[in-house]
Amino acid sequence: MAPTTTPDPFAVADVIVTGREFREFAAFVHRQTGIALNEAKRPLVCARLRKRLRHYGYARLQQYYDHLIERDPEGEELVRMVNALTTNKTEFFREAHHFALLRTEILARRTAGPGPRRLRVWSAGCSSGEEAYSIAFTVLESLPGVIDWDVRVLASDIDTDVLARAERGVYLAERAAGVPTALRERYFLRGRGANEGLVRVRPEAARLVTFRRINLRDEAWPIRAAFDAIFCRNVLIYFDRALQQEVIRRLVEHLQPGGYLFLGHSESLLGMGMGLRPVGKTVYKNAPRGERP
Ligand SMILES: C[S@@+](CC[C@H](N)C(=O)[O-])C[C@H]1O[C@@H](n2cnc3c(N)ncnc32)[C@H](O)[C@@H]1O
Repeated sequence: MAPTTTPDPFAVADVIVTGREFREFAAFVHRQTGIALNEAKRPLVCARLRKRLRHYGYARLQQYYDHLIERDPEGEELVRMVNALTTNKTEFFREAHHFALLRTEILARRTAGPGPRRLRVWSAGCSSGEEAYSIAFTVLESLPGVIDWDVRVLASDIDTDVLARAERGVYLAERAAGVPTALRERYFLRGRGANEGLVRVRPEAARLVTFRRINLRDEAWPIRAAFDAIFCRNVLIYFDRALQQEVIRRLVEHLQPGGYLFLGHSESLLGMGMGLRPVGKTVYKNAPRGERP
């Protein structure tokens, strides 16, 4: 009969770790990143960190952990460890209904309204940039006279590898296949010769986006702006409930009155009492000025 519990010590992908060692390591990862790793994630963690351990010639996760604690004063290996552990799945116009709402509810109203010609959007946990560029394309499409607007999209992530890719703005052409044809033609340059099969985000879209490493787990975020919309999608699922609540509370503090918070398809504010009103599937609106409790 197949064993029902994980053997201890456990070896996957050549990485050896006991249950106790794994729990200690998981607690460290949680303190650093907010990412909650339960016992079921043990094989995944070992597989993802295998290369890092190999780099140092370590066979046991404990040796790598000791290295992080005792021999990584600048935190360089910590950054690599975080980069290896994060899950970065994303795509252009993922959850397309959110971009439809951005267009019809937020941008259309802003265009019609008397407010300042200034727009701030944050893609928090942007991975390799597809979400932030999808926002930029939507803004360019939907704001008439966008040239006269002061538009900034902040795109942040904890993972420096995906951020570097995001900033480059170069993708396999097949990754852009989900972008509506007209937008694909307008906002991507197609690679030729050695770059055949690649596309690059055009400068008019790329210049709207600023990339920064921001760890949502950190006590203080280096952000002063109040945003018209914050996309924090498919990030909070990696945190435990207490941290989800804490991060959402702080995201809301960075929303304009009447601003919008977009969460991922399996995330919700249900039972969190944040005072935001649901306006679509996993989209919430902050109370407008004068209506706040
Ligand atoms: C699954 S991707 C989601 C990407 C995009 N938001 C989307 O929905 O397509 C989750 C991203 O959250 C980032 N992440 C995880 N923990 C984080 C933290 N503490 N601070 C900032 N970003 C974090 C990961 O690096 C990863 O790129």
